[in-house]
Amino acid sequence: MLNMAARHYTDEQAFRLERNTLFRQHWQLFCHVSQLLNPGDYVSGDIAGMAVLAIRGNDGELRAFLNVCRHRGARLLEPGSGNCDTLRCPYHNWLYHNTGQLKHAPWFGEDSAFNVNDWPLESVSVEIWRGLVFVAINPVSTLADQLAATVAELHDVPLESYQLWATRELVFEANWKIYTDNFVEGYHIPGIHPEFFRAIDFNNFETVACDGLVRMTAPPRGDLFYQGRWLWMWPNWTLSLFEGGMNTSRINPLSADRTQLIYRFYFSDVNATTDDDRRQVLESNLEVIKEDFAICLATHANYKAGTYKPGPLSPRHEQGVNYFQKQYLATIQGSETDVESTVETEL
Ligand code: FES
Ligand SMILES: [Fe+2]
Repeated sequence: MLNMAARHYTDEQAFRLERNTLFRQHWQLFCHVSQLLNPGDYVSGDIAGMAVLAIRGNDGELRAFLNVCRHRGARLLEPGSGNCDTLRCPYHNWLYHNTGQLKHAPWFGEDSAFNVNDWPLESVSVEIWRGLVFVAINPVSTLADQLAATVAELHDVPLESYQLWATRELVFEANWKIYTDNFVEGYHIPGIHPEFFRAIDFNNFETVACDGLVRMTAPPRGDLFYQGRWLWMWPNWTLSLFEGGMNTSRINPLSADRTQLIYRFYFSDVNATTDDDRRQVLESNLEVIKEDFAICLATHANYKAGTYKPGPLSPRHEQGVNYFQKQYLATIQGSETDVESTVETEL
């Protein structure tokens, strides 16, 4: 097993291809259903540079749209969450219902061919699975098919009893696949996370990779906040279990050399009197996450400089890396010619 070639991590061309295929075609963990309970509730976010929003309409229906005005393409909602009855484009004030229909194009002028009904926001697929909201721009499979082994893996976890407690977004300057390679192996724990290393039985660290899922487990020693089960799901989200809670993250590329992590922390007990305990779990968790950034940056720099030739992957610890890279290459290479010709035609 060899590591993937460096050019896949650093080429702008590779990033454009990923955006047009992998990130358009796969379901993306977007938010939690509790953020979209009432008419007008919305969450606006980024998928590999593509602005998307999910919103519950005044008719009670949950929908998702490209966050792109149908007039000249301005972004309608700033990233974040909130509630709105209508969406007003900041550019020329076109006004949309929260069901996506265009309501009014002020000062447009007389044009007999223009009809507001012809210009609704462009729909994006949206699905809820056990309280988690996923969106997909051009899905090539159902959400259930993409989740694959994850459904059974989380069968014993009471996801519905966990309430969203905090969201944290982190940005660092390395390719999203360098971070993913890092996330799906425990091989780096002794070198990069010495405290975490002491808190688990590393000799019994196990990795299983198949069917859309990399599962890593290790028996915790003492009072480690993790439960000892860390999951990564194809193509770019993660879930780690705590006692009485969990975090999820989406690994979102902003460009070939910039990555955003959107972490959400959930607990079954969100009583204000025990906030300190949760804050401590969150802080300790963020420390472990941030410990990976420096090594990812330095690795990215070597890939970018062209001085790295693919090395061997550990059969004991890096089958998750191999699994991710194989899935990635199959997706990208399978669509390379199609997308190239589509892009050419569009131009
Ligand atoms: S771009 Fe939105 S109103 Fe013009
Ligand atoms: Fe790590």
